[in-house]
Amino acid sequence: MFRINKNQNQSFLCAEHQTIVESARLQMEKVPYACTRGGCGYCKAKVLDGSYHMERYAKSALSDGEVLDGIVLLCKTYPRSDLKIICE
Ligand code: FES
Repeated sequence: MFRINKNQNQSFLCAEHQTIVESARLQMEKVPYACTRGGCGYCKAKVLDGSYHMERYAKSALSDGEVLDGIVLLCKTYPRSDLKIICE
């Protein structure tokens, strides 16, 4: 179980086998999402610290440049350590 620190003033737990959107929804934490399938880009967040695995997503939802900048799709991201993220 890892801790997701959001916007420097909120945090919630996320299991290794859950996406950040899934765990946030289960714990009534607010994170942006819409399709939950990696297709819309609505769940974008910037990872400031920590490691993660991201499943396949639509290139139209997240560009290669954004990936290089540490932007992820929370609906496709599985934590591999505690994370610090910035999102709406
Ligand atoms: S909610 Fe649509 S890409 Fe994540």
